[in-house]
Parts: sequence; structure tokens; C-alpha cells
Amino acid sequence: MWPQSERMDKIPPYLFAEIDRKRKILEEQGREVISFGIGDPDVPTPKRIIEAMKNALDNPSVFRYPLGRGRSDFRKSISQYYKKNYDINLDYDKEIVVLIGSKEGIAHFPQVFVNPGDYTLVPEPCYPVYHIGTYLSGGIPYFLPLEEKNDFYPQFDSIPQDIIKKTKILYLNYPNNPTAACSSKEFLADAINFCKKNNIILVYDAAYQEIYYDNKKPVAFFSIPGAKDIGIEFHSLSKTYNMTGWRIGWACGNQYLINKLAILKENIDSGTFEAIQIAGIEALSGPRDDVCKMRKIYQERRDILVEGLKKLSFNVKIPEATFYVWLDVGSDGLKFAENLLEKTGIIVTPGIGFGSSGRRFVRFALTISKDKIINALIKLENLWKK
Ligand SMILES: Cc1ncc(COP(=O)(O)O)c(C=O)c1O
Repeated sequence: MWPQSERMDKIPPYLFAEIDRKRKILEEQGREVISFGIGDPDVPTPKRIIEAMKNALDNPSVFRYPLGRGRSDFRKSISQYYKKNYDINLDYDKEIVVLIGSKEGIAHFPQVFVNPGDYTLVPEPCYPVYHIGTYLSGGIPYFLPLEEKNDFYPQFDSIPQDIIKKTKILYLNYPNNPTAACSSKEFLADAINFCKKNNIILVYDAAYQEIYYDNKKPVAFFSIPGAKDIGIEFHSLSKTYNMTGWRIGWACGNQYLINKLAILKENIDSGTFEAIQIAGIEALSGPRDDVCKMRKIYQERRDILVEGLKKLSFNVKIPEATFYVWLDVGSDGLKFAENLLEKTGIIVTPGIGFGSSGRRFVRFALTISKDKIINALIKLENLWKK
């Protein structure tokens, strides 16, 4: 047998693939499974976007290698989206590169800047691709705990100076998966100052920017002065338009960072299928009623779940954004999740899967129907009564 590379030794099986495997095994055994496990929208992609894709397929030019940084008309629609919704200026030609989903870009980005032995600052609990990408580039993640007492913000003054000196990248993700926390303008301004002072690149993951409630629009990274001097934002159509399977996203921001990422990508992939990019233009430029409708759907689900958990005496915080509920179970979250699965067939993600600070938590994804949530709450109540 061939020993795997030392880098690969650091890569665990992908958390969500594991959860899905468990679900399949239980279903094959004929058990009813209710899965709050994976944040993958259950509602179909809006029809207008599917129609745009179908029409795009009538033009044979889309079947060729897409190449380059993405179609200029799609990049223009991205730039217009930022202008219209956040009054942010982005040069479509120099400050945007199209991705095959934001995960792809986030995973590849450290390879551009991180040398073996360099550090990246990874707040945890977190989406695992930040440290996985770091390991694959030979770097070392330095984990920064996100704790409720600090509003789930990393504490920059806790980082030793010798680590800061060797740090290339700080990752931030707000609205945050899994904690559902949002960033304040003040926190983002602090993070930008910290990065500028220490010559660190700020990678901002905005995958959940559009999933928010009660009309409280999350702060946009590039609305903070100085963000573009050190920052690159990763964004995606996946969560906003129920397009996780289509694989389309983008990176935008600092021209130098975008240019380097584009060069890397041109060497390892050949771009995003053009018909999907054309559908992406419709997603961003067409009427956005479907986005508002999805917010309402998630809000209703959130309220049902949160109310139900409160009735069971859980101390649960109402998320202002994302489709996640991050629940402190007051004991080992992994044991809690295992017990729940065994006794009720309900899947929740143990917080430890996102990092050691998630040990006492479990994450519920609101990507299942209202009826299933109600059913799950009945099962939970029955289990609690016993
Ligand atoms: C925080 C965060 N960032 C990025 C992604 C990746 O999304 P995609 O690759 O579908 O754009 C996800 C997916 O779950 C996520 O939770």
C-alpha cells in the first residue's frame, strides 16, 4: 500500500459526509430519520433561475471550457448586486473571480500565500475548510475560541506575538456557521486594523450574508473603511438561492489577492460551467421575492424550533441570521447527539465537529420542513418525559 502524504494525515473524514452516511444506514434499516444535520436547503432553486439555465443550454458556446475569471456579464451582475444592496463599489474586471462554489476558493486560497510553517488564524468552532485548506498548503492553524461571553468574536489580544509574526491569514465568517452570530461594525473595524498593523490577509466568508431575520441586514465586510486594503470576501449563490448543488460562488475584493487566486485557479481548474454563470446572472439581477420568501420560511421554522426547545427548558438563543440554531446542551454535545440519534432518529450535528469550543453545543440546521420540525419536537418531548 502507498502511505498517504503527511498533509493528508491531518485531514479527517469530512464531517458532513459522515453525518450523511449515518443517515443512509439508519434509513436502510427502515428507521424514520429527521435530519437537522447538514445546512443544505430543501426548497428547490427558484424557477426563474432554472429557466435561465435551460435557455442558456440552447447556445452551444456554453459547452466549451469557460476559462478565465468567469463571464464578464456574470461578474458585472455581481458588482451591481454589491452596489445596489450595500452601496459597495467593486471593479468587475479586476476585483472579482468566479468560483466553483465558495468552498473551492476557500480551500485553495491558502496555497497562494501560505508557506510550510506559516500560521493562519482560525476562529473555532468553524466551517472546517479554513483549517483543512491551511493544512493542505503546509500551514499551521492557530485556533481562536469563539465564546458566547465575547459575542462569538475572536480575541486578537490573546494571540502571542511570535505567532502573529508568522501569520499570513485571518479567517472570519459572519453571519457565522455554526454559532449564528453576526458581526458588528466595530468588531470588523478592529479586525481590519489588526490585519493592517500585522500585514495579515483577512479572508471574509459571507456565505450566509442574505439569510437574516426581522429585517436586520448583516453588516457587509466591504462597507467598513479599509476592508479592501487587506481583504478578500468569499460569497456564494448556494444558500441564498437554494443552489448548493450547482456549485457557483465568487471571491471579490483586493485586486492583488484576486489576481493571485485567479492565476492559481487557471492552473488547476477551467472555470465554472457557463450555463450556470448565466443562471447566476438571473439569480442576482432578477426579482428577489424568492429570497424574501426563503427568509420567511426559515424564520417560521426558527421560531417553531426555538419555542419548542424553550418549552423543554433549553436555554436557546434566537439566531438573527443563518439557518442554524446553536444550542448549548450544558453537557457533552457529542453524547447528546448520539443519544438523540439512537433513541429518536433525530440527527443534530455535535458542536465538537466544528472545533473544541463547540464541545457543549449541538447545531440544528433549519433546512427541513416545518412538519418535520414539529414531529422532531414531539419526539424530543417524549424522550425528555422518560
Ligand atoms: C460558512 C460557510 N462557508 C462556505 C460554505 C460553502 O458553500 P458553497 O461552497 O456551496 O458556496 C459553507 C457551506 O456550508 C459554509 O457553511
